[in-house]
Amino acid sequence: MAENEQSHQSVDESVKSLLSGQGKDIPLFKVFMPESVMEPVRAVLASGYIGEGPRVEQFEKELAPWFGSENVLTVNNGTAALQLALRLANVGFGDEVISTAMTCSATNEPILALGAKIVWADIDPWTGNIDYKDVARKVTPKTKAIMCVHWGGYPCDLDELNAVAAEHNIKLVEDACHAFGSTYRDRPIGCHSDFAGFSFQAIKHLTTVDGGALLCKSKDDCERGRLLRWYGIDRKCKRTDLRCEADIKEWGYKFHMNDVTAAIGLEQLKYVAATLKKHRDNAARFDDAFANLAAVKLLHYRNDRLSSYWLYTFRVNDRPAFMKHMKQAGVTVSQVHARNDLHSMCKESRTELPGVDEFTAEQVSIPVGWWLTEEDLTRIINAVTEFDKSQRLAIKELPPASKEKGQRFVRQNPS
Ligand SMILES: Cc1ncc(COP(=O)(O)O)c(C=O)c1O
Repeated sequence: MAENEQSHQSVDESVKSLLSGQGKDIPLFKVFMPESVMEPVRAVLASGYIGEGPRVEQFEKELAPWFGSENVLTVNNGTAALQLALRLANVGFGDEVISTAMTCSATNEPILALGAKIVWADIDPWTGNIDYKDVARKVTPKTKAIMCVHWGGYPCDLDELNAVAAEHNIKLVEDACHAFGSTYRDRPIGCHSDFAGFSFQAIKHLTTVDGGALLCKSKDDCERGRLLRWYGIDRKCKRTDLRCEADIKEWGYKFHMNDVTAAIGLEQLKYVAATLKKHRDNAARFDDAFANLAAVKLLHYRNDRLSSYWLYTFRVNDRPAFMKHMKQAGVTVSQVHARNDLHSMCKESRTELPGVDEFTAEQVSIPVGWWLTEEDLTRIINAVTEFDKSQRLAIKELPPASKEKGQRFVRQNPS
């Protein structure tokens, strides 16, 4: 095998073991797929109807309480949910969308797909979330929407972001792909803003293999979205044969969910509360264990919102040394997402983002999910605290800007 072929092979294999949890290290992510999905999936596959049908409808009904809204549109992935949201916000060629660079590229590629320009706003380097004050500074007459991302599941400053959006009559789109089950001021993520997009991709709290949901504040947007997710056609329109007779007023996409994936989702919903509890309980254990460390610095979380803890991120002095140490301890850790602003596809949007610089220099996520055993938790806690001990001499004082955030609550115990 040629040398570069071999290195591709090994990357591929390491990603597989990282995601399947079948490697020897504690994985950062793991697919949750209970045996009980097999029967409902078999039943749909054997039913003779596998497209969008009764299971999709039922899945949307059962999802509604999780989002505090009945305006649920399931789609075939989270990226599609975000693109549909931007389209419903009437984002088009030449418009500007203010967004965050600290996310998966799937947040920002839908903006480019619609021919709009990304305008970066900076983030709070102690949460990873967009800074609403910088968002307010970046609004221009061309701004059509704001895109925010709840990093790791920790909700953004939604009241402030919604206030900026309302002041300028623009739409707020929440990329809630990390945030299924998160709450903000006692109400679930999904009911706070014009739009919120969720992902049910393989390694999320709830997976349909691939899938997603778009939540719309307005009934009208939801009805328009229902058409646009399937070519602009009303699936319930009158048909005398297979041909649909209704006029297509507006072109749409093929973004709908099908009954096979909806059947998986319906089954997964039975387990997701327990999954979320496990993530939160594990996070609480880490909060306690790491509260007084120095080289490992917890993010600054307020107690008016609750993360789903899809990620447990902290900041660490000398991340390369930390990653090496954790690898030796058999624990998979990662930065998870690369800042988006440095990609060539975003070169027209380049700007100074000191908060992103600060966060990306130190942020790292450790395993926090439902799969961790008591033994895993002990191994992770010991490895992190050992690293902290080894680094103590190298600790510098926190810069004054970070200390100003004294009004923030440092992590509470969420359970
Ligand atoms: C922040 C964020 N946005 C969007 C997406 C896209 O979701 P999907 O993979 O379902 O298209 C992801 C996927 O993991 C994500 O992490």
